[in-house]
Amino acid sequence: MTANHDDLAALNRRRSTPSRQLGEPGPDEAQLETILAAAVRVPDHGKLAPWRFLRVRGDTRLQLGELLAARARERDPQAPEAAVEKDRRRFSFAPLIVAVIARLTPGHKVPEIEQLLSGGAVCFAMLQAAQAQGFGAQWLTGWAAYDPVVLARLGLAENERLLGFMHIGTSNEPAPERDRPDPRDLLSDLSL
Ligand SMILES: Cc1cc2nc3c(=O)[nH]c(=O)nc-3n(C[C@H](O)[C@H](O)[C@H](O)COP(=O)(O)O)c2cc1C
Repeated sequence: MTANHDDLAALNRRRSTPSRQLGEPGPDEAQLETILAAAVRVPDHGKLAPWRFLRVRGDTRLQLGELLAARARERDPQAPEAAVEKDRRRFSFAPLIVAVIARLTPGHKVPEIEQLLSGGAVCFAMLQAAQAQGFGAQWLTGWAAYDPVVLARLGLAENERLLGFMHIGTSNEPAPERDRPDPRDLLSDLSL
């Protein structure tokens, strides 16, 4: 077994770029395909491919922002204008947002939690692949990812869950680093 230090270095360089920092250019068609090809390589118990991708780009991003703002007002008519405005602008920064949607098969011998976990791995693989191509990316959810009205407008079926909005684009500033947990604090040995 030979260690590949380039691969390890890439893993250890991973960090999110806040969506507000992201702008043009976003991935072109070929680059997006590369990102998705990395995404679908995730472990997938039962080979269910229990996920799908919904691309949000161009003016649709702004329309989605309008949808969120209207829904935010509906949810809370007293919501401060600043909060509603934040929702309106949420999807206006990154040129490309890919919503990762879990497609769950209830009652399958592969438990639903495993189907969801595979989808989480998809999201993470997308972050890695985007960064490997020189893009910045951030995995965001926010209330909209759990709001039944928004989800219905996005076309999610009863058995589907929105796992994340993956914002992808280019940043002119370095992505901020944050303190990371010390893995040694998290490790213990099983003794029976
Ligand atoms: C499932 C999931 C949902 C997230 N949703 C949000 C969110 O709505 N808003 C937010 O500020 N960060 C959210 N984050 C955190 C960011 O993706 C990211 O981890 C954070 O900006 C720190 O950057 P880092 O990835 O470099 O640690 C979410 C992370 C995960 C795993």
